Amino acid sequence: MSTAPILSSVPVDAAVPRHVAIIMDGNGRWAKARHLPRVAGHKAGVEAVRRVTRAARAMGVEALTLYAFSSENWRRPEDEVGALMGLLRLFIRSDLAELVEENVRLRVIGDYRRFAPDLVALVDDAMAKTAHNSGPILVIALNYGSQAELVAATRRLAARAAAGEIDAAAITADDIEAELDTAALPPLDLVIRSSGEQRLSNFLLWQAAYAELLFVDTLWPDFTADTLAEAIAAFGQRQRRYGGL
Ligand code: IPE
Ligand code: IPE
Ligand code: MG
Repeated sequence: MSTAPILSSVPVDAAVPRHVAIIMDGNGRWAKARHLPRVAGHKAGVEAVRRVTRAARAMGVEALTLYAFSSENWRRPEDEVGALMGLLRLFIRSDLAELVEENVRLRVIGDYRRFAPDLVALVDDAMAKTAHNSGPILVIALNYGSQAELVAATRRLAARAAAGEIDAAAITADDIEAELDTAALPPLDLVIRSSGEQRLSNFLLWQAAYAELLFVDTLWPDFTADTLAEAIAAFGQRQRRYGGL
């Protein structure tokens, strides 16, 4: 007699990364090539976010992390920063219902509490409304910088050590990981950067320790479900070794 379970869970396909992170770059250059203002590139970038989040869900990616605003992006002109915030408001207002419907959990990494109070409230509300969902996780990096994340984690651990709650000499990599904004997310498998730039720009430095890196020339507003499918196919061809043979 077979003892196979009647309901088998969805097969885990090793060729599909569990956690994909994307550095969505190239909006400005996309707009420039069309003689449009940079904000037009950001608007088109939001459309790409919709396409790619839907595609990632359809492909069975458990967690998708999108770099939307870095802690260094405050260096941009005030009107561009304002336009990016405006687009974020619009995105949450128009897409929250779909995320709830699709059983997506929304999480934010980064110090988003530095944003305008209404935007902070909007983000908190969106996270609360999706907190009990059990499906894929959409992580948006807002005012995120990996070094600031590590500094904050280090300070919390140092404070606990100073208070005698933990032994500083016994701190492990797991302890550090538990203090990061990404705690409890699946391990990062694949980092994709669009627009041809080949750098991490302070994104998930710790988490990317053994992630596969993929740099594509496509500008973010041109990124489609097919671009993601190609990236995932390329990931499937990589041989991950983690220092072993
Ligand atoms: C990425 O596109 C979007 C954000 C950083 C918010 P850019 O605005 O950096 O586009 P380029 O790099 O100038 O083309
Ligand atoms: C990284 O892109 C940040 C985001 C995609 C949000 P940038 O365009 O800000 O990065 P640099 O300045 O070219 O390194
Ligand atoms: Mg850029």
